[in-house]
Amino acid sequence: MKTINIQKSKKCLICNNDINPFISYGEMPIANGFLNSDNFSKEYFFHMQVAHCTNCNMVQLLDTPDKDLMFNENYAFFSGTSNVMKDHFKNFAFQVKNNYLNVEDPFVVEIGSNDGIMLGNFKDWGIRHLGCEPSANVAHVAKEKGINTIVEFFNEDLAKKIISENGQADAFIAANVMCHIPYFHSIVAGISLLIKKTGIVIFEDPYLGDVIEKTSYDQIYDEHTFLFSVNSINYIFNEYGMEVVHIEHQDTHGGSMRYFIGHKGVRVPSKEAVDQLAKEKKLGLDKPETYTKFRENCEKSKVDLKKLLTDLKIQGKRIAGYGATSKSTTILNYSDIGPDLIEYICDNTPIKQDKFSPGKHIPIKNIEHFKENYPDYAVLFAYNHAKEIMSKETDFIKNGGKWILFVPNVHIVN
Ligand code: SAH
Ligand code: TMP
Ligand code: ZN
Repeated sequence: MKTINIQKSKKCLICNNDINPFISYGEMPIANGFLNSDNFSKEYFFHMQVAHCTNCNMVQLLDTPDKDLMFNENYAFFSGTSNVMKDHFKNFAFQVKNNYLNVEDPFVVEIGSNDGIMLGNFKDWGIRHLGCEPSANVAHVAKEKGINTIVEFFNEDLAKKIISENGQADAFIAANVMCHIPYFHSIVAGISLLIKKTGIVIFEDPYLGDVIEKTSYDQIYDEHTFLFSVNSINYIFNEYGMEVVHIEHQDTHGGSMRYFIGHKGVRVPSKEAVDQLAKEKKLGLDKPETYTKFRENCEKSKVDLKKLLTDLKIQGKRIAGYGATSKSTTILNYSDIGPDLIEYICDNTPIKQDKFSPGKHIPIKNIEHFKENYPDYAVLFAYNHAKEIMSKETDFIKNGGKWILFVPNVHIVN
């Protein structure tokens, strides 16, 4: 069996304050670790607990698996599987180009660039760019498209190397990766060196405020070391002479926040940024009681989902899952839902198909399998792609099928 290297921390990863978990989700496997049956006995689990730091307000996992267990040449998430996300990242890229690259020979760096879903736009526009993507299989797809990509984990040392080879960057961009990185000080230190004095940092990640409000606890899994808020992001960037100058809420991934960050004093923080800092205090994101209530909501959601599926099964109904998301690993393992309740999960990602879901070992099938013999109910694990999926799958409804959603509460869509 492979030696497992677990980083343990009971000190805040951001400010070193003592932190205590407000919830335990129990033993969790690698969320994207879809596996063959030969590997069931070797499967890796870690104790997934979450804490809120009362000093810097960062919400974080207590234990995170070693990064090489999650990001490697078998990484299962290819960004390009969603057309809606392609459009989303095209708009993101346009925003960067139109508002921040009006300089001579601009240079853009993206980390977690995956298959090039965002950076490909800069390549098409002939803009100097560099992607930094440690998972070799997804990086390979980007390289094949002619997108400049290095297969490396970003950190302070890599930032220095990028500067020595390319000079400083005008824009540093990232999506759904900053919250993955426990060595966050090294990231922010690297960014503060890499970015020009007048440059901009723009990244987006699932937003703590949405997770709390919608009980979307499935955003918590091994890769998501942090759940960011504007306050916690501002805290850490302040330490490196930078500040949040603007924010924009996004509907993607069940509710995300896009942060715009610059060197201190270069840009005047927008009203939106200033207001959101205050709004988070009003929402109680700095108060332990908020997290106690969140725990109660998670516990209710877990009981409700298992009860609904069990009741339907007793009535002889067939239930499938739709979208073998990394998020579903938390739902299934925490709620103790296995193949006895969910026959299979269908997904359009080839690398996941004909494998089994992490921990609970529900078979993963292609979408044709779903279409050939519709179940009575389908749990929409990829609810963040609900519009795209529901509009593709109208025949399922015509055949009497029904969707089950669990955010913001467990319900059948009628
Ligand atoms: N930006 C894409 C991909 C997000 S998945 C999107 O939003 O769809 C997160 C990606 O970050 C993975 O491809 C993973 O390999 C990569 N990653 C993880 N740690 C990283 C690090 N330290 N530096 C750069 N990329 C990293
Ligand atoms: P995500 O929620 O992390 O983006 O993952 C979405 C998963 O859902 C991914 O494995 C691909 C899958 N999916 C489909 O199977 N069909 C679809 O139409 C879409 C948009 C996603
Ligand atoms: Zn802290």
